[in-house]
Amino acid sequence: MTKTMRAVVYENYGPPDVLRVAEVTVPSPGAGQVRIRVAATSVNRSDSEGLRGSPLYARLGGLRTPAVRTLGSDIAGWVDTIGTGVTRFRAGDEVYGDNLALRGGFAEYAIAPESVLVHKPPELTFAEASTIPQAGAIALQGTVGTSEGSRVLVNGGGGGSGSFAIQQAKRLGAHVTGVDNAGKLDHMRSLGADEVMNYHREDFTREGPYDLILDLVAGRSVFDYRRALARGGRYRCVGGPVPVLLGVLALGWIVGGLTHRRIGILVVREGPAHFQPMAELCVAGDVRIHIDRTFELAAVSEALAYVGEDRALGKVVVEVP
Ligand SMILES: NC(=O)c1ccc[n+]([C@@H]2O[C@H](COP(=O)([O-])OP(=O)(O)OC[C@H]3O[C@@H](n4cnc5c(N)ncnc54)[C@H](OP(=O)(O)O)[C@@H]3O)[C@@H](O)[C@H]2O)c1
Repeated sequence: MTKTMRAVVYENYGPPDVLRVAEVTVPSPGAGQVRIRVAATSVNRSDSEGLRGSPLYARLGGLRTPAVRTLGSDIAGWVDTIGTGVTRFRAGDEVYGDNLALRGGFAEYAIAPESVLVHKPPELTFAEASTIPQAGAIALQGTVGTSEGSRVLVNGGGGGSGSFAIQQAKRLGAHVTGVDNAGKLDHMRSLGADEVMNYHREDFTREGPYDLILDLVAGRSVFDYRRALARGGRYRCVGGPVPVLLGVLALGWIVGGLTHRRIGILVVREGPAHFQPMAELCVAGDVRIHIDRTFELAAVSEALAYVGEDRALGKVVVEVP
């Protein structure tokens, strides 16, 4: 008899209410893949982007309709079955990882390549582990080059990656400014930010100068960013509308190069080697995991709506009983 499971699926790009809970066939792992019984999957902005199909890069692989039917990439759970050739895991192992290519975490079972997974540290809960892969990798790579006394600004500092990035920059000795909406200013202070700005009222590109700007939600021109950078400073963005990213890509190196600054896009390297160091910092108590809310599987659309409602502090997690 075919085994079925509950999964949150969508057929068309749109707002959270295009998501529905469906009874679907439990997938089988192929060669080099494992099947995970999902315990928790954290929500990333990339899930909201994949849901809405916006910015345009979120439609890679599926221009008119979504390439994957179930979102959720940062998963944690138990290995259920392994495919041929899998050597690092066996049934029952507790694992977590960033399953960005296949996704499928908003379901009772998900398939992931062995290579994207690692064993979960026993000190972390499944929910905690699920917050780390994407946001932790962005925070670690986005703060490279920070040193004692650097002036670092994190734009979007109250969200998932930003909450890790503020703490990491502080650990490295920086003077940190966090930018986000009014409801997240205290949260950023509690993470260690020395200064905070409300993006609805203040324009960080008219402040500074900063040695490093990590921009999680780019929305300005290259000339604005240049103005906010100190000589020798660096601007890196990871997400934003395609025209803004194209502007950074096309003009950043010229405008930056001519004025002794570096302006560009951070293409985040994925995989355990890039997020495990953040998990180690969390286990050691050097970085704090902040989970704002957890939702159950049937409430994935509410979880995604909540993240888009200007309210989520740090991470939001979907737990699968
Ligand atoms: N480059 C790469 O290789 C790569 C890899 C993976 C992910 N990404 C991207 O990384 C980005 C970061 O994701 P995340 O999960 O950290 O996002 P997140 O949790 O949604 O955090 C973003 C934060 O920025 C705030 N914000 C929104 N508009 C803002 C503005 N104009 N100025 C300042 N802050 C603003 C949001 O607050 P509100 O609640 O007000 O919206 C939220 O607190 C995503 O765009 C994702 O696609 C890039």
